[in-house]
Amino acid sequence: MKDASSSHQTGQRDSFGSSFGVLVALAGSAVGLGNLWRFPYLVGENGGAAFIIIYLGFVCLLGIPVLLSEFIIGRRSQANARGAFLHLAPGSRWTITGTIAVICCTLLLSFYSVVGGWGVEYFIRAVCFDFTRGGEAALSEMFSTFTVSPWKPLVCHTVFLLATALIVISGIQNGIEKFSKIMMPLLFVIMIGLAIRSLTLPGAQAGIDYLFKPDWSEVSTGTFLAALGQAFFSLSLGSGMVITYGSYVSKKANITRLGIETAVADTLFALIAGCAIMPAVFAFGISPGEGPGLVFITLPHIFSNLPLGGVIAIFFFLALLLAALTSSISVLEVVVAFCMEEFHMKRKTAVLIVFSVIWALGCLCSLSLGILDHWKVFGKTIFDLFDYLTANVLMLIGGLLVVVFVGWKLGRKVIHDELTNGGKLHIPAAFIDTYAFLVRFVAPAALLTIMLFQYLS
Ligand code: PHE
Repeated sequence: MKDASSSHQTGQRDSFGSSFGVLVALAGSAVGLGNLWRFPYLVGENGGAAFIIIYLGFVCLLGIPVLLSEFIIGRRSQANARGAFLHLAPGSRWTITGTIAVICCTLLLSFYSVVGGWGVEYFIRAVCFDFTRGGEAALSEMFSTFTVSPWKPLVCHTVFLLATALIVISGIQNGIEKFSKIMMPLLFVIMIGLAIRSLTLPGAQAGIDYLFKPDWSEVSTGTFLAALGQAFFSLSLGSGMVITYGSYVSKKANITRLGIETAVADTLFALIAGCAIMPAVFAFGISPGEGPGLVFITLPHIFSNLPLGGVIAIFFFLALLLAALTSSISVLEVVVAFCMEEFHMKRKTAVLIVFSVIWALGCLCSLSLGILDHWKVFGKTIFDLFDYLTANVLMLIGGLLVVVFVGWKLGRKVIHDELTNGGKLHIPAAFIDTYAFLVRFVAPAALLTIMLFQYLS
């Protein structure tokens, strides 16, 4: 297999400026609403520590192998999610994998930016000290009135998507990398501060036990599906993100290390978010299984009862917004890079077109929670349908195709070549063997089994 990079240089291709830049951008994509909004409520709905242990198992056994496979495809081809397959397997049908990724990101960003918009609204409310004024019933009412109202969430969705587009328009080094380099360390500091506050509340111990002492009686097949979907969503897998960002990474970088560091950073952030939220939830005697409203209803209720809670709320929703933005820019970049390279568009034109399409789909998602809630496909509102289609269908299919492609089509020699940079880096043979075994046999079998279970039951 020839190295396709030389054959696919569309003018001067943008690239990351440093290894740290790559890491914060990748971690920035991975750490997002998945960690701060989805992970805590899934832990709450699925019985705590047992879910976390299963989740960690999936991250190691499936998450890291899929992540490294996407990295290999992106770095080797130096092309967008679809172009990568065109160049590594010309004339084959493998390009469908890239097409799925582009569709996945389009749908994903449509509902992601709606939730990002809720983050904008809640950040503003926190700044206005709005949460101090009501009890839990009032806060629950506040959330439902806001999300079903026809225009306010649309304005917030527009603001969030515009901010995303403005960063992506500035390119990789000047936009995405610069933004992530400043925001990720800030996010880390805020999250650690919030976790310390929560862990030192009187009554926090019950929350710590919930997070770290497993109760296996709560586990069902649903727990495994939820944990796998979450691992893929949180690590941004099967969406073409790692292929796209990987294509901007230098041929000298150690992609094994970068891939593992990304997975570790993402998992750490999820656990820190758990430590920031669960002890507080237990300290206030609230049930952890509140579902998607956990962050938008339960937490404001807690903030309103904490000393200095108003200030903590500002930091929490700032963290949520930053995390969501560093992720949404990566999703937009997948589709923008595809348009630029496959249709020879300028970055600005591509951003404008993709923004318009995603903005319109996002409006439908947002309205489907209110005036359009009678529009149902397979019994789901458009918002739920897009969430389900991305995290539970397209990302898993994309991940499956990616591991089969790397394990069976590219094969061992290319794997060795990419992980060791043509023999220049020392990566233990046992690691490469284990990785190759996982992508050839374990990951495809596990993903297929879980998907069949999911779709047939
Ligand atoms: N990983 C992001 C999160 O946790 C979501 C995401 C999915 C980002 C796919 C990019 C691609 O919020």
